[in-house]
Amino acid sequence: MTIESQQDIDGILKAGRVVAHVRDTMLDAVEPGMTTAELDALGADLLDSFGAKSAPRVTYNFPGATCISVNEEAAHGIPGARVIKAGDIVNIDVSAELEGYFADTGGTMVVPPVSSIKTRLCHATQLALKNALSQARAGAPINQIGRAIQRTAKSHGFKTIRNLGGHGIGRSLHEEPEGIVSYFDRHDTRRLREGQVIAIEPFLSTRSTHVSEAADGWTLVGHPANLSAQYEHTLIVTKGAPIVATLSQACA
Ligand code: CO
Ligand code: CO
Repeated sequence: MTIESQQDIDGILKAGRVVAHVRDTMLDAVEPGMTTAELDALGADLLDSFGAKSAPRVTYNFPGATCISVNEEAAHGIPGARVIKAGDIVNIDVSAELEGYFADTGGTMVVPPVSSIKTRLCHATQLALKNALSQARAGAPINQIGRAIQRTAKSHGFKTIRNLGGHGIGRSLHEEPEGIVSYFDRHDTRRLREGQVIAIEPFLSTRSTHVSEAADGWTLVGHPANLSAQYEHTLIVTKGAPIVATLSQACA
């Protein structure tokens, strides 16, 4: 969507605060021995307490409130009986609708003991998101976002997953502009416009550049030995620095 009023700004920021709070609470709660279903139940209860509805559930009938993807799973992992183990790398993606506005966020953590490659993967992906955010301003080519992500990945010795990416958001979970990819697409001539609401979500990986749907019909996986990390923010494009709706903060 494109922002048309203060009410639109407030609506996106409010939805953003809720999903950011749920993301951070869930990431903090991860412990070895816990199932991904237990972790998801925590997120579901929290969303409920704010009157927010799980976006993947209402949009795609996703079988969970949040997406929880572990190790070889890159995205859209279904919460279930999988037990989180020491050393696992866990991605939690939380998106929700609140009072007609949608926000989407994600983060990744490593369950101790932490290996250096997993830590580096998380740090590089956080940096990729930061560098991408600095490219997100009104009038800028959309492909500079992918260029920033790809450069950051490469400089840290990682790849990016080419068939996952960011998207417009606001009145629904996925809107125009679709396909805000994690690599430099020279053929993409689109530019960002003031007031556009978008989600940027770099996926960095140790070996896979593409992921495909697993037998469950949802989970996206690459090579069985691949590891990936994702961080995601929802933001409003301005002439200057973007207004990031999903920063970590106490939820009012
Ligand atoms: Co997301
Ligand atoms: Co998203």
